[in-house]
Amino acid sequence: MSDAHTIPSPVDHEPIEGPRLRFRPIEERDLPDMLRWLADPEVVRYYGDPPADIDAARRDYMEPDVDPCWRFVIELDGRGIGEIQYGHPYPGPDYSWTAGIDILIGEPDARDRGAGTEAIRTMLQHLFEVKGVHRATIDPEVANQRAIRCYENAGFRLDGVLRHHAFEHGEYVDTHFMTILEDEWPAAKARWESERGASEA
Ligand SMILES: CC(C)(COP(=O)(O)OP(=O)(O)OC[C@H]1O[C@@H](n2cnc3c(N)ncnc32)[C@H](O)[C@@H]1OP(=O)(O)O)[C@@H](O)C(=O)NCCC(=O)NCCS
Repeated sequence: MSDAHTIPSPVDHEPIEGPRLRFRPIEERDLPDMLRWLADPEVVRYYGDPPADIDAARRDYMEPDVDPCWRFVIELDGRGIGEIQYGHPYPGPDYSWTAGIDILIGEPDARDRGAGTEAIRTMLQHLFEVKGVHRATIDPEVANQRAIRCYENAGFRLDGVLRHHAFEHGEYVDTHFMTILEDEWPAAKARWESERGASEA
């Protein structure tokens, strides 16, 4: 496990290029947008209260935490629309054998148009094909049916319900623990490519 001196910076890494989206490390100039996205009611509903100010957002999103995490702004046609990140929350045979993903589409007009599904697929491609992970995980709240549908479409399946796994707005809430394994990725990718081909035809 890393110690405080070797924990990588969450913003010191290469961009990720997908067929439709680009992920780039968060920069200082993104913090006002990050604050606005995190204060959006649909994000607050599942992420909890936003950081109090720019300094708190910088601490939360740009500075190393005890768990290594890599954070990106999601860009669509050059415009930042949200944030995606991955980390390695579960120790195993190799520290990076499994990766947990979190995502928010912060611009309201960018939701419900397929960008979330595209972003998850782009991140899975990076994790399986570049980083060589064995398993990816994600844990939406049970009430977050849009997120669950989005993750299923990208290839995740439900492993089980984690009871009272999160504490949001003064209540314990259940979450879905969803995973996709490396040998399931080719079929998920084939579905992505076929949907992309159909929408471009
Ligand atoms: C969850 C989130 C990442 C999804 O991204 P998105 O771009 O809005 O979602 P997409 O358009 O790619 O896909 C949404 C899917 O859910 C479906 N959907 C939308 N609202 C739904 C609802 N209330 N119940 C069930 N399905 C719903 C859509 O029809 C679509 O499925 P389809 O393609 O099969 O028709 C994004 O909405 C978001 O960031 N929300 C706020 C923060 C959040 O919830 N983050 C996730 C925390 S786990």
